[in-house]
Amino acid sequence: MEVLERTINGSNVKIYIGSGLEIEINRALEKYNGNISFVSSILRSIYSKKIRAINSTKSFMKDGERAKSMASLNAVFRKLIKMEVERDSSISYIGGGTLGDLTGYAASVYKRGVHYLGIPTTLLAQVDSSIGGKNAINFMNIKNAIGTFYNPEAIFSDTDFLLNSDPALLRDGIAEAIKMALIMDSHLFKYFTENDIKSIYCSKNLQYIIKRSAEIKLDVVTADFLDSRKIRYLLNFGHSVGHALESYSGNTISHGTAVANGMILESYIAYKSGYSSMLHEEIKDAVTRYGIPLINFRDIEADKLISYMKNDKKVEHGKLNMVMLNESGRASIEEIEFQQLRRYINLYRDGT
Ligand SMILES: NC(=O)c1ccc[n+]([C@@H]2O[C@H](COP(=O)([O-])OP(=O)(O)OC[C@H]3O[C@@H](n4cnc5c(N)ncnc54)[C@H](O)[C@@H]3O)[C@@H](O)[C@H]2O)c1
Repeated sequence: MEVLERTINGSNVKIYIGSGLEIEINRALEKYNGNISFVSSILRSIYSKKIRAINSTKSFMKDGERAKSMASLNAVFRKLIKMEVERDSSISYIGGGTLGDLTGYAASVYKRGVHYLGIPTTLLAQVDSSIGGKNAINFMNIKNAIGTFYNPEAIFSDTDFLLNSDPALLRDGIAEAIKMALIMDSHLFKYFTENDIKSIYCSKNLQYIIKRSAEIKLDVVTADFLDSRKIRYLLNFGHSVGHALESYSGNTISHGTAVANGMILESYIAYKSGYSSMLHEEIKDAVTRYGIPLINFRDIEADKLISYMKNDKKVEHGKLNMVMLNESGRASIEEIEFQQLRRYINLYRDGT
């Protein structure tokens, strides 16, 4: 087991990473006057023994993107009031990033803030979304429209939850972990290029990937907790193109596939813009080792893709602040005109 500890925005956050973390979870829960866990209902049958071993009152609920809604939030508040949850109690979630985003928001506003713990069960949630204090629900079709910054006191990333995971879910997490490597850690990127989906699929190797990714995310969010200094933008590498690809496809491609292909195209743009040497082929090789499908950009209309990219949160004064890879393990934020983007996207399409 690995334990990371950091002070973020004045609050102490502990992250436990390993297998069989029930003992650590129960030890942490003992501190509070009652604990309620909101649990992804999909886990009920697959991990019943593991969930039963956690000493909290369980409330099972449907998760997924649709659960990041006002209706689910109301259901959480109703449960908390019905169970007379007080400020010295704790709320936790056992599930993926959607349940984390929903319950984190609830914990931050219920009685003006109650103790909050995370038990993320997808690789994406373990390497990324459980850390950094951002939470949100979607509203009027706007993703993450309403939310707060609120840190969990502890996060328990138990690799046991990943060993029966759907391969598509694992790929989504791998794409985000490769992103962490490319922006901050060339050794971790090398590790990805030397392994593949089979070789990483054991507790020890997953633990290494989660630990390094968590350390990187901690470094970034500690430096820019409130996302006000553009440092957190680094975590958006691959996402300017990635989010646009998701919208372009009507959300038929997974987030991980979109981000992985986004990283390939964005690194080509960084190369063409003179910020880096040619890295996109290496990234392409790395993502295919993990079974992440490659998008044929010849099938993508540059103008349509760009129309979606114009909604990126990093657009300012009509220009996109894009995460430009400088080399493996280092990136910077640079402004780029949409006209220039169109030129490079078309060049990339022509060359594929
Ligand atoms: N707050 C942040 O900083 C941040 C960062 C990145 C992403 N996010 C958010 O995270 C969400 C995506 O998270 P996600 O990919 O975990 O999605 P998710 O929560 O929808 O989980 C994906 C699916 O996996 C199932 N699942 C959960 N654990 C499982 C397990 N161990 N085995 C099998 N199935 C399991 C869930 O029931 C769900 O159907 C998005 O809403 C995104 O906006 C938040």
